[in-house]
Amino acid sequence: MVIFTEQNVLSSHLSLLTNDNKTIGFVPTMGALHEGHLSLMKEALKENDSVIVSIFVNPTQFNNKEDLEKYPRTLASDIEKIKMLHKDILIYAPSVEDIYLKDIVSEHFNYDGLETKMEGKHRTGHFDGVGTIIKRFFEIIQPQKAYFGEKDFQQLQIVKKLVAKHNLPVCIIGCPIFREKNGLAMSSRNERLSPKAREKAAIIYQTLLAAKTQFQTKSAKEVTQIVSNVFEKHPDFNLEYFEIADEETLSTCVRKSKTKKYRGFIAVYIENIRLIDNISLY
Ligand code: PAF
Repeated sequence: MVIFTEQNVLSSHLSLLTNDNKTIGFVPTMGALHEGHLSLMKEALKENDSVIVSIFVNPTQFNNKEDLEKYPRTLASDIEKIKMLHKDILIYAPSVEDIYLKDIVSEHFNYDGLETKMEGKHRTGHFDGVGTIIKRFFEIIQPQKAYFGEKDFQQLQIVKKLVAKHNLPVCIIGCPIFREKNGLAMSSRNERLSPKAREKAAIIYQTLLAAKTQFQTKSAKEVTQIVSNVFEKHPDFNLEYFEIADEETLSTCVRKSKTKKYRGFIAVYIENIRLIDNISLY
């Protein structure tokens, strides 16, 4: 296992692989690794000669200082988990300076409106930060394939758009959501929940499943109201949004169309920790 902290050293190593016609699969993460991340790595191992995982808590994608400060940082155990999975996975764990030099600022991106919906509406500048770091990683690593979890479905669509708009030579692979036994979507932020809250948070997925059933016979507006009523009854939760949106454009569903694929998207706070999840509705 080799751990790189400097992009120059990493780039030289990767160019040796590329010169040898080896394909590179890339899994970007912010650490605090869980089964969901490991499933991305497993997929990458199946499809590429070499796999590189980045571990970097990207400051420019946090719209909230406290969230950035409290984001779990568990580098030693992350390295152990990767090592256990496969001894040849490469790790890139740069410092903030290695990525941003002195200017910790985002580039500005136009994702044809995808950035104005849901997460973009509630987390100003978030997707500029994501685009900045992902574009930089792609430039440094030049992978043939990159793997993203569907838990951050909007992020996945935004990264696909970034790649299309900038003609980046990388194939973006979306991988299914991994869930805890009670259905809670795996997330590094779950680490910060008390055991009680982690149990209670099962209601998020239960509600999404119920919404999926309801959506077969009810309108998007009615289902949205039902979800909102569920969380109103639970004082531990603060629902930020639930939206039924078109998977491609992420536009809110006003009237159902048979030709579109819809998804339910949710963001909810418990113990002041923001959790997101989504479900396909077809
Ligand atoms: O999904 C994440 O963990 C992050 O947004 C990513 C893709 C690693 C970029 O920092």
